[in-house]
Amino acid sequence: MVTKKITVLNESMTQEEKQMAGDIIRAGGLVAFPTETVYGLGADALNKEASAKIYKAKGRPSDNPLIIHIANMDALSHIVKEVPAVAYKLSDAFWPGPLTMIFQKSEVVPFETTGGLDTVAVRMPNHKIALQFIESAGGYIAAPSANTSGKPSPTTAAHVQKDMDGKIDMIIDGGPVGIGLESTIVDLTAEVPTILRPGYITCQMIEKVAGDTRVDPAVDGIMADGTLPKAPGMKYKHYAPTGELSIVSGKTEDVIQMINQMVREKEGQNIKTGVIATDETKGLYHCQTVKSIGTRKDEKTIARHLYGILREFDDMGVEYIYSEEFNSKGMGQAIMNRLIKAAGHKIIYTDRKS
Ligand code: TXA
Ligand code: MG
Repeated sequence: MVTKKITVLNESMTQEEKQMAGDIIRAGGLVAFPTETVYGLGADALNKEASAKIYKAKGRPSDNPLIIHIANMDALSHIVKEVPAVAYKLSDAFWPGPLTMIFQKSEVVPFETTGGLDTVAVRMPNHKIALQFIESAGGYIAAPSANTSGKPSPTTAAHVQKDMDGKIDMIIDGGPVGIGLESTIVDLTAEVPTILRPGYITCQMIEKVAGDTRVDPAVDGIMADGTLPKAPGMKYKHYAPTGELSIVSGKTEDVIQMINQMVREKEGQNIKTGVIATDETKGLYHCQTVKSIGTRKDEKTIARHLYGILREFDDMGVEYIYSEEFNSKGMGQAIMNRLIKAAGHKIIYTDRKS
């Protein structure tokens, strides 16, 4: 298959572009599109054959449900059994935006879209092109992140092209995304709203609007007692670069010293290594490849660059990657959640003898 690529300027699709993308979706095809979080791989959410194609293109396990993207509130009542009062409060506060809510699904949503579950995840993205695309394609777009399953999510159209070229019908290039991490997921079918995946919208922000809110205890992966995360996708090794990524935890000066020591050992054996540093620490590493992920003064910059940096190390053939750790509160919780998964839980503590 030849993947058609269009570049949308000024954040606005032309009539012809809308028609083209809409026709592909109505015919059961796949279109990758930008959102404010990461690029999505879209199909008609109400067409089971189309949803099934998404799993094939990504190499995604079929028990991992998709998020349905909508462009207005009328669409919500069509795909869910009931809209609880708290959902209206949350949608008023955060939609369009990087929040996904989970509801009981209505009959029109096929099990192919929900990975066999009776519940459905829904999000209204805060991105002009995404909203135009959803509307022109019938209003219900099932879309996971547009990466090969297990790889870092795409934050540019070039990332999508690398993973999906020849496997999907079209890529809409709307430039780099703003946030860079996937949406926060909150389950509204639980007794108390429960966060299944941390993101830009933090637990504290949700709590202010929805009252008592919990975080799924297995949010960072399968727990020691075997408890599985409630979002099926959160149990897999994820977001991972090809090189072996380790997070180094401890006081900043100890972290720098330990990373420098490990880099020296690896480079001494001619093994290509890389360091994920920050603007504040970049100059303190002695390594051929040091990349700053952003500044600790503004965690949004770190979120925005995380996946792109992991992909850059892959492109350079880096075999070992060492990363500083980040604050695990607020937005930092989402950053650490993704980093820990990308590292397959490999954390090196500077104050522990291994
Ligand atoms: O920001 C985002 O959410 C991006 C953009 C494209 O919108 N999408 C995204 O989709 O990250 P995906 O498929 O990569 O991640 C969806 C997550 C998975 O972990 C999946 O298991 C969970 O949402 N999920 C979907 N439906 C669910 C449901 N009914 N119950 C529990 N978890 C669900
Ligand atoms: Mg994903």
